[in-house]
Amino acid sequence: MRDTDFFDGIRVPVIGQGTWYLGEDATKRVTEVAALRAGIDAGLTVIDTAEMYGDGASEELVGEAIRGHRDEVVLVSKVYPHNASRSGVVAACERSLRRLGTDRLDVYLLHWSGSFPLLETVDGFERLRAAGKIRSWGVSNFDRDELKQAPHGCATNQVLYNLGSRGIEFDLLPWQQRMGMPLMAYSPLGQGPSLLEHPLLTEIGERHGVTGAQIALAWVIRQPGVIAIPKASSIEHVHQNVGAGAVVLDAEDLASLDNAFPAPRSKQPLDIL
Ligand SMILES: NC(=O)c1ccc[n+]([C@@H]2O[C@H](COP(=O)([O-])OP(=O)(O)OC[C@H]3O[C@@H](n4cnc5c(N)ncnc54)[C@H](OP(=O)(O)O)[C@@H]3O)[C@@H](O)[C@H]2O)c1
Repeated sequence: MRDTDFFDGIRVPVIGQGTWYLGEDATKRVTEVAALRAGIDAGLTVIDTAEMYGDGASEELVGEAIRGHRDEVVLVSKVYPHNASRSGVVAACERSLRRLGTDRLDVYLLHWSGSFPLLETVDGFERLRAAGKIRSWGVSNFDRDELKQAPHGCATNQVLYNLGSRGIEFDLLPWQQRMGMPLMAYSPLGQGPSLLEHPLLTEIGERHGVTGAQIALAWVIRQPGVIAIPKASSIEHVHQNVGAGAVVLDAEDLASLDNAFPAPRSKQPLDIL
């Protein structure tokens, strides 16, 4: 699988692992931990979580999955906007670190913009960085104009991006590519079946000997500077997602996908989940 620059000279594979809804059902815990570990072993080392997910349950599950493997993963978590005051961000990070069972995050994101001024939040991030509790910081769900206001040092912007939601291709993605700021693509599988069972994805998948989901994921990472973070709760799905890293879509595939899922021709409001 290809690598890409992330922050501070750290390079990561272009597919990582999302964790929204993981850790919420005790009967699935063993399977979910095994899936995350299988992903780490197979190279999906960027792990994305948030204090919001299951009110900390996702961070706790990730903590269990990375125990003994902390140095192999690039850990990303997010602070709620209502916790993103100068001191609130520090307290929220400390709670996340406890749940994750680690002494540092690699990237800490503002989950979406709220009522605290971004400069205040970033001041909190910088205090955490100086204390060694985070290595870098970034934002999520920022459109281009908002992102342009972010102070120097913003490592990434995490936004919705999949075949069914291409609005960012008009201005946000090209801008981030020009600035050398990697884009984390969330919900790259469109959250499951309705996108993945599209007949065109199945047809292209059959040509490549892979599934429709693998085509959807290969399409997201075709762009330079994009890191996709699919969430998978089974080892089978994790291995398929690893396999998507090797799928190369040809011009004919891309043209038929453009036809079925047109690229934006004008500015679109940022899609947010
Ligand atoms: N920053 C934000 O505001 C924000 C918002 C949304 C999401 N996120 C992050 O992005 C991550 C990914 O997004 P998401 O969870 O919304 O949706 P997603 O990754 O697009 O889709 C997840 C769905 O796809 C299924 N799936 C995974 N691998 C598959 C495969 N190989 N074949 C078929 N189905 C497969 C999963 O099923 P199983 O679970 O059964 O494997 C699950 O139903 C989240 O988990 C979270 O970390 C961030």
